[in-house]
Amino acid sequence: MKRFRILFFGALIMGNLFSCKASFELSPNNWLNDNVPSFSKNFEKYFQHVGIAVTYENELSKKIIQDGLKKHTNSITMGNEFKPDFVFNNWEIWPKPNLDGRFTDSDGKNITVPSNVPNWNNKVDNCLQICKDLGIQMRGHVLLWHSQTPAWFFHEDFDKEKPLVDKSTMNARLEWYIKTLVEHVQDWEKKNNNGKHIVWAWDVANEAASDGATTDDPRLRNAEEGSKWFEIYGDESFLIQAFRYANKYVSKDVELCYNDYNCVYDGKRSSILKILDSIIAHKNDLQMPTRINAMGMQSHISKNTKVTDFEKAIKDFLTKDIDVQITELDIATEEKYDPQELAEVYKKYFEMFIKNRKTEKSKGISAVTVWGINDETTWLNSPDQIKWHGNVKQYPLLFELNSSGEMVTKKAFDEIMKIN
Ligand code: GLA
Repeated sequence: MKRFRILFFGALIMGNLFSCKASFELSPNNWLNDNVPSFSKNFEKYFQHVGIAVTYENELSKKIIQDGLKKHTNSITMGNEFKPDFVFNNWEIWPKPNLDGRFTDSDGKNITVPSNVPNWNNKVDNCLQICKDLGIQMRGHVLLWHSQTPAWFFHEDFDKEKPLVDKSTMNARLEWYIKTLVEHVQDWEKKNNNGKHIVWAWDVANEAASDGATTDDPRLRNAEEGSKWFEIYGDESFLIQAFRYANKYVSKDVELCYNDYNCVYDGKRSSILKILDSIIAHKNDLQMPTRINAMGMQSHISKNTKVTDFEKAIKDFLTKDIDVQITELDIATEEKYDPQELAEVYKKYFEMFIKNRKTEKSKGISAVTVWGINDETTWLNSPDQIKWHGNVKQYPLLFELNSSGEMVTKKAFDEIMKIN
């Protein structure tokens, strides 16, 4: 299944509408109203981390959204700002990097690295600071991905017109990138937050399994599907390297995850399970062991996705003796939006998540994050996604904007809040 990614294009609309109403009296189901219970408080007895994904510009940076996040989450995920494209501040700096940095990797290989990227004047530090001020944490998303990563990262002399680099150079670049970002965040936490973590988990790698994988041929995403990682390595060793470097540089009390979508499909899941096996197989290596704590199930599902199929996927991942995190939950309403029907689907899913939660005795679901705040800003209402869903607007989230532009709860929210 081919999916398109257009990110939170509606955030702008939402920002404008919502800010107009800030000073008016709150309607009974405004998400800030005292009568409206807190999403995270309702579920944190089951899952340690409960939250929502946001973007910086039109959401996290706005006071009125911050108030909602403080109330309804204990963890957020940045929709874009911690991805390689953004960390590299791609569009503003390239193509004029200062190629005068040097880095020596764990194998002793010495490479040239750009000294003017990453540029921390982008949003990374602001996001950390706002989380600190709100008293919430963050899932770090994402260190390695074939998408939203500048093409030049993979090419000789950081010039996308030149050939791809070889494996050992790419290993060194990957180690440099992971070390640079992770240490920047951890140094920030030391300086500004008494060393307490804002980022409690990292998605070390995202979406490496092929959509065309089958149970007989559980292959990785290949060159045709647009992975330069696969083009350079030809196998899953880049994932093993990523989990080695993450283990080396990320604090031991911060979780490391592999994140992917469409886990209910048998072929795709076989490919993911194979990836997990490869990473886990190196956990006891004497030099540079890997570490993985959880499988991140993105969970961009449809109201027609069978709960039993989803639960089977959870159970398959749990056989690997790692936890599961629901990292990007949204439920496409497909051809027809019936608020009560969506509410019931959400309820079934949350009940099933709770049934499979992590406990003191067993691995299980330890975190749930919903992918976006409201239906106006969801990526599912980008033109490509609407087309994918039969040219029908989608209503996949827990909040919506009412006609006065207020952020209000949907039936789906009210229904899951009855679970306790
Ligand atoms: C994937 C990625 C996310 C985001 C969504 C679309 O699920 O993991 O970072 O890009 O697609 O919004």
